[in-house]
Amino acid sequence: TIYPVILSGGSGSRLWPMSRSKYPKQFLPMLGTKSLFTLTLERVGETYGFGAPLVVANEHHRFIINEQAAKVDVSLQSVLLEPVGRNTAPAVAVAALKIAKVDPDALLLFLPSDHVILDMPGFHKAVNTAACAAKKGYLVCFGMTPTRPETGYGYINAGSEIEGAKGARIISAFQEKPNAETAAKYLEAGTYSWNSGMFMFAASTILAEFKEHQPAMLKAAEKALKSAVPDLNFLRMGEKEFSAVPADSIDYAIMEKTSRAAVVPAEFGWSDVGSFSALADVQTPDQNGNVLVGDVLALDSHNCFIHAGEKLVSTIGVDDLIVVATDDAVMVAPKDRDQDVKRLVDSLKASG
Ligand code: GDD
Ligand code: MG
Repeated sequence: TIYPVILSGGSGSRLWPMSRSKYPKQFLPMLGTKSLFTLTLERVGETYGFGAPLVVANEHHRFIINEQAAKVDVSLQSVLLEPVGRNTAPAVAVAALKIAKVDPDALLLFLPSDHVILDMPGFHKAVNTAACAAKKGYLVCFGMTPTRPETGYGYINAGSEIEGAKGARIISAFQEKPNAETAAKYLEAGTYSWNSGMFMFAASTILAEFKEHQPAMLKAAEKALKSAVPDLNFLRMGEKEFSAVPADSIDYAIMEKTSRAAVVPAEFGWSDVGSFSALADVQTPDQNGNVLVGDVLALDSHNCFIHAGEKLVSTIGVDDLIVVATDDAVMVAPKDRDQDVKRLVDSLKASG
């Protein structure tokens, strides 16, 4: 059995004002009517043979999680609650420790809660390939074909195919978030793929890697899990104990360091919807190149992403703009500055 673990601790700050820290993007219907979180749960449903999913999330979101899981009729194994965000490595460690107590050989499939995958059969096929490599003791990522010198992703250089795991390759180099120059070089080289941020490994494998590369983090994670108090289907870790776990991402903490990394190169209509451009990219534009959501009137406007919320939004004679309106905020930016939305949110936070 493959146990899905859904990571839901991010705040989606580059999608402000749609995504808010109290109600971040994974819980919003970014495309169509279902939230990214519920779509993630549906991809790993019982009908496909997966075990009950474990969710690792910020404690503020616990009721949204239960409400959304109930709507799609998925029973969760439990929801492991973090009092503060410590990035993805501690979340992976506590989830692996929890499941290893029951079954050390369990295969864990870590999934971000906020990605779009358009091709479900393609996704399931890649997961099966990854399972073969994970059973052989590999830490498996899913490689996507890069289309731009994105600096927000991890880059993977694949080596030879793994015997007995057709379609999976050994990783010869994994580099998380390279600078612009290096990213451009990797794109040019044509042999690199993007890390999708989904991972698969046996609980015992990842815990051995933590022991080797992050012993202090593993010890602190053990203490944090021990401090967890059950409450409904939640497991609430102690604030003092979890805050003591060093913060880092799984990419830096383990994937860049391990010698047992593997990749399954795959195409399944993936997007991490990390920015407004990424969100626009997974939707079909109209004849003017615009992606218009809600009540929008765009006169002589081209290549814009306009999200109207509950308002009527109108533009005249503008190109390459992002316009996002919600109940209480409006954000306007040129498309090529969509990464700076995070900066905007940081300065809003700083000004209270
Ligand atoms: N439980 C928990 N706790 N989840 C978290 C936390 C945390 O503290 N921080 C982030 N997450 C969740 C996010 O909600 C998201 O679903 C996932 O973990 C990945 O975190 P991001 O913060 O979005 O990572 P990233 O986008 O910078 O980079 C990762 O994803 C890229 C692809 O989208 C890396 O794996 C890159 O290598 C990869 O290319
Ligand atoms: Mg991300």
